[in-house]
Parts: sequence; C-alpha cells; structure tokens
Amino acid sequence: GKGGHRHFMAKEIFEQPQVIGDTLNAMFNPAARTITLPALPFDLAAVPRITMIACGTASLAGMVGRYWLERVARVPVDWDLASEFRYRAPVMADGGLAVFISQSGETADTLAALRYCKAHGQHCLSIVNAPESTIARESHAVLPTLAGPEIGVASTKAFTTQLVVLACLTIALAKMRGAIDHETEARLSSALTEVPARAAEVLNHDERIRAIAQSMLTPARDVLYLGRGSSYPLALEGALKLKEISYIHAEGYAAGEMKHGPIALIDESVPVVVIAPSDPLFDKTASNVQEVVARGGKVVVFSDPEGVARLRDLALDAIALPAVDPFVAPILYAIPVQQLAYHTAVDKGTDVDQPRNLAKAVTVE
Ligand code: F6R
Repeated sequence: GKGGHRHFMAKEIFEQPQVIGDTLNAMFNPAARTITLPALPFDLAAVPRITMIACGTASLAGMVGRYWLERVARVPVDWDLASEFRYRAPVMADGGLAVFISQSGETADTLAALRYCKAHGQHCLSIVNAPESTIARESHAVLPTLAGPEIGVASTKAFTTQLVVLACLTIALAKMRGAIDHETEARLSSALTEVPARAAEVLNHDERIRAIAQSMLTPARDVLYLGRGSSYPLALEGALKLKEISYIHAEGYAAGEMKHGPIALIDESVPVVVIAPSDPLFDKTASNVQEVVARGGKVVVFSDPEGVARLRDLALDAIALPAVDPFVAPILYAIPVQQLAYHTAVDKGTDVDQPRNLAKAVTVE
C-alpha cells in the first residue's frame, strides 16, 4: 500500500531517511568511521579512469558522482548518457572502470553500453536497485542501493540511494589511492551518517514547499532551475522531475551559463528555482541570482540558514534547509526538488504515479 500517503511517490519521498540509512549502513563502520566496499573481482585502486553511464535521473546521480570522484578521489571521470555512449564508438583503454547506474537494472540503452564496455576491456561495476536484474547479472560487480521497491514512475528514493553508494565509492577509492587521510575519511563518512536525520528535517518543510508549488509553479508555463558544481545536476533533476509529472516545461542550467543565452527568457512569468547550499561556489551563484532578479525574475532559493540570510532580500521565497557538509549537500537537496515537483503535479491534478507516455523500466531503445 501507500502507507497512508496519497501516492506512491509521496510514500517513497518520505521513506528516504530510512533507505538512505540502510544503504549507508551496509558500507559504514561506525567504530572506525571508515567505509568498506564489498570485495570486488578487480583492483579498484589501480583503475586509471572511470566512465559513468546511465539514463535519465540515474545519469544525474552519475553526474554528481563525477564531481565527487574528481574532487575527492582525484581520478579522471568520463560521463555519458547510455543512449549516446553506445553509438559513439568510444575509445577505451584496457583496465578502466565503467560504472552503470540503474534502478530497474533493465534499461535497454544502459545494458547495451554495459555489453560494449565488457567487450572493450573495462571492469564493469553496476549500482542497481533490482539485484536480480539483467544489468546486475551481467556486471563484474554490483553495489546495491537498498531503496526497496520503487513503484512511482518518477525516481526518488532510488536517486538518493544511488548518491549514497557513489559517495561511499568516492570515499573508499580516495582512501585506497591515498588522496585523503583517515581524518578526512572520518569527516566525510560522519557527514554521510548525519544525512538520514537531516533528510527527516527537510521533510518537515513539506507544507512550505507545497505552498510555493501552488503559488509559483502551478501557474507557470516555463520554469528554470539553476545550480553550480554538484548542485548543477540537481538543477537538471529538478527540471526533469517537474516536466515528467506536472507536464510544465522546465530547463535546468548551470548558473554560469545564464548569461550565455537563457537569461533572455527571464521575465516575471518564469519562476527560477535556485539550488545554492553554502559552499565555495555560493558567491558565484548569488551574483547570478542578482542578475536574474535585476531582469524581473521571480526566484525561489533552496539553501541553508546562512545562504538564505544572504539571499532573502533578493528572492521571492527561500527555504532554509539544515546546514550540512557541502560534500553531502546533493543528497539532501534532492529531496525538496522532488517535493516541489510532486506538489505541483498534485495541484495540477496529473496522474503523479503513472505520468502519461512513461514506463517504469525502459526496456526498448
Ligand atoms: C525519472 C526516471 C527516469 C529513470 C530512467 C533510468 O524520474 O525515473 O529518468 O531514471 O528511465 O531508469 P533506470 O534507473 O531503471 O535505469
């Protein structure tokens, strides 16, 4: 059942504190504050390069993973959509690591990319939610997301648990490669262990987010989402979620790209959702917000108390999420983005769990 919620999507949004914790606990040792991955049939520390491949929301988890793995583990990362990768004739040096991310484990393009990578000398690791799936079976190794069954077509808890696995992979690989010391490993993994409690606090903002959805997004024809760094994939995810369940046109942009074209779209009829946790890129995003507001744009900011204090006068509305280590912010900020899309769709009266034209597992190309 829906556990007292109106839709599976709402139930699955609210399950996130639990399933994020479950996924993390399978890899985190509380006493030593270290991350241990399951045994892998290849030498992870020796991989010279990582290629991250998936579709849709799962691909956006991979995009966050790329920011983490480059910054923290100092390993080169390529990223592609499975439907592009497989037809690109990509050149791959033997012994690289290919990471496939999939809730269903049955996505046709992701599976085809996996087969290509196997044939081209890659170690194939999949992050899947369905352990008996084809992608899981055909991979050399699997890191499971413990999200439980996801029924709503729009991915929610699968996405945040994919992020948890990628964060653990990042910490473990960084440690193996000597890119971080034990202190940093302990700090990053402790930040991860706080996420379930912080995620529960985010869910308390549900009524506020519903009010913003109703007043600002439901009446809109187009919505822009902006973010920088590891918040950029969340801007893309916010736009994807809104499109697929509310049928409102939305675009996610890297905040720094605004002045290269999309700022021409800004007027009072286009709400702009800004994802801006306090991190080293906050000031840059804040000046983009200024540019948008100067052109009459109506801005909603998701930040923390410090960031909200700095943008409150500019933004039409701002939600202060709990302050967290910037490393884990993408996991936390995924949640209000889902809530915003959910409440907009409910308000519009669409079929939230079964949006038109979409299937839960895309087994055709
Ligand atoms: C969006 C969504 C899709 C899936 C995509 C990949 O909310 O659910 O974009 O993320 O179809 O599906 P999996 O993860 O099953 O490979």
